[in-house]
Amino acid sequence: MDLKGKSAIVTGGSRGIGRAICLKLAKLGADVAINYYPGLKEEAEELKKEIEKIGSRGYPIEADISKMDEAKKLIEQAVATMGKVDILVNNAGITRDSLILRMSEDDWESVLAVNLKGVFNCSQAVAKYMVKERKGVIINISSVVGLRGNIGQANYAASKAGVIGFTKSLAKELGSRGIRVNAVAPGFIETGMTQGFPQEYREKILKQIPLGRFGLPKDVASLVAFLASDEASYITGEVISVNGGIIL
Ligand SMILES: NC(=O)c1ccc[n+]([C@@H]2O[C@H](COP(=O)([O-])OP(=O)(O)OC[C@H]3O[C@@H](n4cnc5c(N)ncnc54)[C@H](O)[C@@H]3O)[C@@H](O)[C@H]2O)c1
Repeated sequence: MDLKGKSAIVTGGSRGIGRAICLKLAKLGADVAINYYPGLKEEAEELKKEIEKIGSRGYPIEADISKMDEAKKLIEQAVATMGKVDILVNNAGITRDSLILRMSEDDWESVLAVNLKGVFNCSQAVAKYMVKERKGVIINISSVVGLRGNIGQANYAASKAGVIGFTKSLAKELGSRGIRVNAVAPGFIETGMTQGFPQEYREKILKQIPLGRFGLPKDVASLVAFLASDEASYITGEVISVNGGIIL
């Protein structure tokens, strides 16, 4: 795989899976715009330094991608700074877990705003640019929970299932313009998002993973890099799981 000469944007790129994706794309030669949520400048700047050590370039850009105007500015700034954008990875996401009877309107709306509307915001802005170029790759991070559901995550599951429908529709709309759109559905990955799980719950999940371990951010990043590369030039509209064989 080779991404030399390519420019990528990774939303929520300063930590967790996003960070691993930034590093992997950079290792393969891409320049990377590291989108970070307001307040996380320091970790984005640190990642920029790591990317420079690898020999690529990193460009931290602040934006709350749930807001259309900020998402538009993110894409504009990335194009202006890097000269172009070949790859968008919609990675930013949040959870607000609660059983349905207790789920507040805000739990629902905030998760949908980041996980689904954020994907729409960034994809629409980048599609306007990519359609003119007649090429591009969009990769959306969904979840095993979007495919199979999960207790306490009706909002999150709905947002991630929504991302799958969105991905498949965009792949159909944009394929004739040379743009590929795919989704990646990770299982349980060791990041801040899963760190707070009670030990009992972790053990319960672990029993359902045939490969016997939680995933690592780099496991997801490898798949994203493949989908971003020309090695995947005939793959679009797909949802590819990376979950250790989990039986949910
Ligand atoms: N960790 C898992 O087990 C797992 C499993 C399946 C899918 N995912 C998905 O992978 C993606 C990355 O999650 P993670 O595990 O690395 O979690 P994480 O909490 O470590 O990282 C999430 C990133 O998104 C950013 N973010 C949140 N809201 C944002 C906003 N409005 N604008 C810009 N950035 C924002 C955060 O600042 C952070 O950098 C998410 O979409 C998540 O739903 C994670």
